[in-house]
Amino acid sequence: MPELEDGPRAEDTLDLPEPMPGAPTTLPEVGQDAPGGAGLGWPTDSVGVGPWEGEWPTDERFDPEYLRHGDRRNVVDKYRYWSMQAIIADLDTQRHDFHVAIENWEHDLNIGTVVRTANAFLARAVHIVGRRRWNRRGAMVTDRYQHVLHHATPEDLVAWAENEGLPILGIDNLPGSVPLETYSLPRRCVLLFGQEGPGLSPAAREASLDVLSIAQFGSTRSLNAASAAAIAMHSWVQTHVDVTAPR
Ligand SMILES: C[S@@+](CC[C@H](N)C(=O)[O-])C[C@H]1O[C@@H](n2cnc3c(N)ncnc32)[C@H](O)[C@@H]1O
Repeated sequence: MPELEDGPRAEDTLDLPEPMPGAPTTLPEVGQDAPGGAGLGWPTDSVGVGPWEGEWPTDERFDPEYLRHGDRRNVVDKYRYWSMQAIIADLDTQRHDFHVAIENWEHDLNIGTVVRTANAFLARAVHIVGRRRWNRRGAMVTDRYQHVLHHATPEDLVAWAENEGLPILGIDNLPGSVPLETYSLPRRCVLLFGQEGPGLSPAAREASLDVLSIAQFGSTRSLNAASAAAIAMHSWVQTHVDVTAPR
């Protein structure tokens, strides 16, 4: 299954943070990051570290450009000055056993946020089901550190999951769904999310071993897909990860 290539992305990743008080009030052109910038087209020095000071390090994981200019990316401190490749290689040694899949028929704006959350909870991979191009707004460039695979149809996702021996668990509050809160989430699984509006497609429901719902108590019919995805991923983490273990 091909990984999605880094396609054109300027406007897709333009999700600018609010300027800090006292920061310049005019924005640079998209893509005109300060050296070592966060990739957001905004020359912020509010996060990260400046140029390396002292004896030049020899660790090959360090990227000379970040050492020279500083590293303002949205990465955890452990990865400061590391090249993107080195970060991905390190993450690959620790990825969790759940996958995240989301249907993409209408360029749902939630998808970028789902990818960002999948990165935060260290999903093994994210699967885009449907259209190949997806709206990266909300991913905040976290997709670059994530394995993102594409499947043209839910049936293709099923074929891939069967080959990997992974059950697909649909996440939606459909009639007949089982409460996520009482369900034993397996360690190895694919959590499959639907779209704003239609929710899980009939084929995606068919593909799911079970469909799991998140309990709600208010008047709205549903959460947005990104919120639901965050809750489901965190439920997997609570079930399978010892968060007190040293990391
Ligand atoms: C806006 S909901 C869509 C539709 C929903 N089935 C309805 O009846 O309105 C979009 C997606 O968010 C997720 N979702 C939203 N609320 C959920 C809930 N309470 N339980 C499980 N999944 C939910 C599902 O993946 C769903 O496909």
